[in-house]
Amino acid sequence: MQTRPWWKLKTIVHWPFVTSQRRRLSWVQLAGHKGSFKAGEEGTILKKLSENEKLCFEQFRGDALQAFVPGYHGVVERDGESFLQLTDLLGNFDGPSVMDCKMGVRTYLEEELVRAREKPKMRKDLYDKMLEVDSQAPTPEEHRLHGVTKPRYMQWRETVSSTHTLGFRIEGVKRPDGTCNTDFKKTRLNEEVIQVFTDFVAGDRNIIKTYCRKLEEIRKALEASDFFKKHEVIGSSLLFIHDHTERAEIWLIDFGKTTALPEGKTLNHLVAWQEGNREDGYLWGLDNLLQLLSSLAKA
Ligand SMILES: Nc1ncnc2c1ncn2[C@@H]1O[C@H](COP(=O)(O)OP(=O)(O)OP(=O)(O)O)[C@@H](O)[C@H]1O
Ligand SMILES: [Mg+2]
Repeated sequence: MQTRPWWKLKTIVHWPFVTSQRRRLSWVQLAGHKGSFKAGEEGTILKKLSENEKLCFEQFRGDALQAFVPGYHGVVERDGESFLQLTDLLGNFDGPSVMDCKMGVRTYLEEELVRAREKPKMRKDLYDKMLEVDSQAPTPEEHRLHGVTKPRYMQWRETVSSTHTLGFRIEGVKRPDGTCNTDFKKTRLNEEVIQVFTDFVAGDRNIIKTYCRKLEEIRKALEASDFFKKHEVIGSSLLFIHDHTERAEIWLIDFGKTTALPEGKTLNHLVAWQEGNREDGYLWGLDNLLQLLSSLAKA
């Protein structure tokens, strides 16, 4: 697997952070679009405003999930742009290891699939992206045309990682030495995922056990959450954070694509997705993740 220095990979926000030791802390973005984050006031980060995500944070207030999502401190303006001000989840850690796990059996909304089908053009850029991951993936016809359609690309992409088979995929890992790895596009098999987690915790079983306990708490909160019942949760991640003190936390982040269902409709997040039912497989993925980590805790 490729190892590249994290500062070359993704946006890193540096800012003078006055602590008792007067250290300079840096914050690392493991996934997401470049330029969508800025340093906020002490202990916070700024994420580019999406009305959708803002709505979610407003609805978390008083919901069973509130304790598991970053604190929301309203919208702020910077250089003419609007941002959500969120608690920096890395703030209290000392040289944290961080993993972003994107949950669910698909990472696009049903409506995105419908839209992508409206005028399905053969796209060379998506064909090239497909080739980059797997030169065998395009059909002979697609090879001939040097193109794939967007819906084809969207659906294919989910089968390359563990999204389809496990209901989550690893997006990125930051190690305590500051290096990042975001090259998990093809991490799909149970054994591969287990290996990434083993490396991530450097074999520390106490951390795995704490993570298992946290996942169980999160599962309970999800079951109790009114918000969760009434939303299609797509592209949202669990952010795993621990450091050398064996402190370990898991947070739910990224609600840019989390969408309210029509009035009266609910999801159970466990059953298989069939187009039209809007199921996201979030809980199914969480159960798979829990099972995988529990096996590691006992290993
Ligand atoms: N509150 C937070 N505290 C600390 N780190 C965070 C926080 N929110 C996000 N991050 C970091 O930034 C990364 C990207 O965040 P997020 O997924 O919310 O952005 P995005 O632009 O919506 O990404 P995507 O490509 O998944 O749509 C996360 O993987 C995590 O490393
Ligand atoms: Mg994300």
